[in-house]
Amino acid sequence: MSKVDVLLGLQWGDEGKGKIVDVLTPDYDVIARFQGGPNAGHTLEFNGTKHVLRTIPSGIFHKDKLNVIGNGVLIEPNIFKHEVEALLKKNVDARQNLYISQKAHLILPTHRMLDAANEQAKGNAKIGSTLKGIGPAYTDKIARSGLRVGDIKAIDFREKYELLKCQHLQTAHTLKFDIAAFTIDGLPIDEYEKQWLESLELLKEFKAINSEYFINECLKKDMKVLAEGAQGSMLDIDFGSYPFVTSSSTITAGVCSGLGVAPSNIGRVMGISKAYCTRVGAGPFPTELFDETGHNLCEIGHEYGAVTGRPRRCGWIDIPALRYACMLNGVTDLFVTKPDVMNSFDEIKMCINYNINGETTEEIPFEFNEVEIKPQLRSFPGWKQSLEGISDYNALPQNLLNYLDAIEIATGVHVLAVSISPDRKDVLFKKN
Ligand code: GDP
Ligand code: IMO
Ligand code: MG
Repeated sequence: MSKVDVLLGLQWGDEGKGKIVDVLTPDYDVIARFQGGPNAGHTLEFNGTKHVLRTIPSGIFHKDKLNVIGNGVLIEPNIFKHEVEALLKKNVDARQNLYISQKAHLILPTHRMLDAANEQAKGNAKIGSTLKGIGPAYTDKIARSGLRVGDIKAIDFREKYELLKCQHLQTAHTLKFDIAAFTIDGLPIDEYEKQWLESLELLKEFKAINSEYFINECLKKDMKVLAEGAQGSMLDIDFGSYPFVTSSSTITAGVCSGLGVAPSNIGRVMGISKAYCTRVGAGPFPTELFDETGHNLCEIGHEYGAVTGRPRRCGWIDIPALRYACMLNGVTDLFVTKPDVMNSFDEIKMCINYNINGETTEEIPFEFNEVEIKPQLRSFPGWKQSLEGISDYNALPQNLLNYLDAIEIATGVHVLAVSISPDRKDVLFKKN
C-alpha cells in the first residue's frame, strides 16, 4: 500500500507549483488536484514554450500518467473548455488521461457575477479576488445548494440550474449590482451563459469517476500518487490572513477532504517557497517592499499574475509565515524557487521575526490585518553571478548555499531542491 505525496505552496501562491509538479511527474503514476479551481494559474516551461494550467493537473503533458480533478476542486466548464482546447493545439488530448470527480462542484456564470457583486459591495475592503466565482461557488457547496459534475447528465439538471441562477440574480439585485452592465470575457452574462451551457458537452466527454475510490484503489495497487496544491498556505480559508484568503483548504488537510484520502495515507509533504515573497490581491504582507528592490523583484522575476496579469506585490522571504506553513502542513521537504531573480543583488534580506508594538514574536498574530508589523531583518551578501548552466546543487555560489542553509535552519526542514529558471530542466536536487 502506497501513500499520497503532497506538493503545495507555502506562501501566498505562485511559488512555482506547476513547474515542480511537472518535474516530479516522471516519479508518479497519478497527479491529482484537491482544491481550488480556475483562480489558479500554474506555469510550465519546456522546449522553449510556456503553458499555463488552470484546473487541469500539471502532470498532463506526460501522456503515460493519469491526472485527476478531485471532489474538492471547482470547475468552470467554459474556462475548462478553453484549457482543453489550448492543450489540443499542443497535441495533448486531456480526454485520454484526465478523470474528473463526479463530486467536483460547478462554477456557474452567476457565481462569477456574484463574485464581482461581493467585491463591489466590500468597497475599499475588497479581497482582490481573481473573480472566477470561487467564493460564491464554495458558499453554495457549504450551503448545500451547489451543482456537481455528476449532476450534468441528470434530466432535471437544467431545472436545478435555473433555480440556482434565479437565487443568484436575486442576491445580486439585493446587493444593488448592475447586472445589465456586467460582462464576462467582454460578453453580457446571457451571451456568456450560452457558451457555458455549450461547454457542458465537452465536460461530458471526460470520464467522471468516484475519485475517492479510484485514488484509494491506486494506493492499494502501490501506485504513486502526487496531490498538487493550488494557491498557498497563507491563503488558506482557516489559517490564512482571513478574510484576505481564498475559500478552500489549501493545506495538507485539504488533501484528505478534497480527494477522500485518510490522514494515515499521507506520505511526504513537499512545500514550495520562493527565495523571496510575493502576493497578489489585498491583505497583509509584512515584508513587502515599496522601493526599487521591490520593483526589481517584480520586473526581473516577471511577477505578473498568470491569471489576471496583475502585478504581484514583492518583498523579502518571511520566515515566521514560512515556519507557520511548515507546521500546518507537516512539511517534510522544501523546494526553493527563483533565487536567480536576485542574482544581481548586493544584499539579500530575510525576515526572521516580527516586531509588533515593541514586542518580538515568531507567531502570526490573530490581528494580522490590523497591527503594524515591523519585520526584523537579517542580511546576507548577494552572490552576484548568473546561475545559468549550473547543474549541480553543490556548484551553486557559496553565498546562495549559505542563504539556503539559513532557510533550512530557520524552518527546521531540509531543502530537497532549488529551481533556478522557469525551465523544467533547471531544478537542482541536493544530494545527501
Ligand atoms: P504556481 O501558481 O505556483 O504554479 O506559479 P506561477 O506559474 O503562477 O508563477 C511562477 C512563475 O515563476 C512562472 O512564471 C514560472 O515560469 C516562473 N518560475 C518558476 N520557477 C522559476 C525559477 O526557478 N526561476 C525563475 N526565474 N522563474 C521561475
Ligand atoms: P496559484 O494556484 C496567487 C488570491 C487572489 C485574492 C485571493 C482570493 O496560481 O498559486 P479568489 O479568486 O480565490 O477568490 O481570490 O486569493 N489568489 C491567488 N494568488 N496564486 C493563486 O493561485 C491564487 N488564487 C487566488 O489574488 O487575493
Ligand atoms: Mg499561479
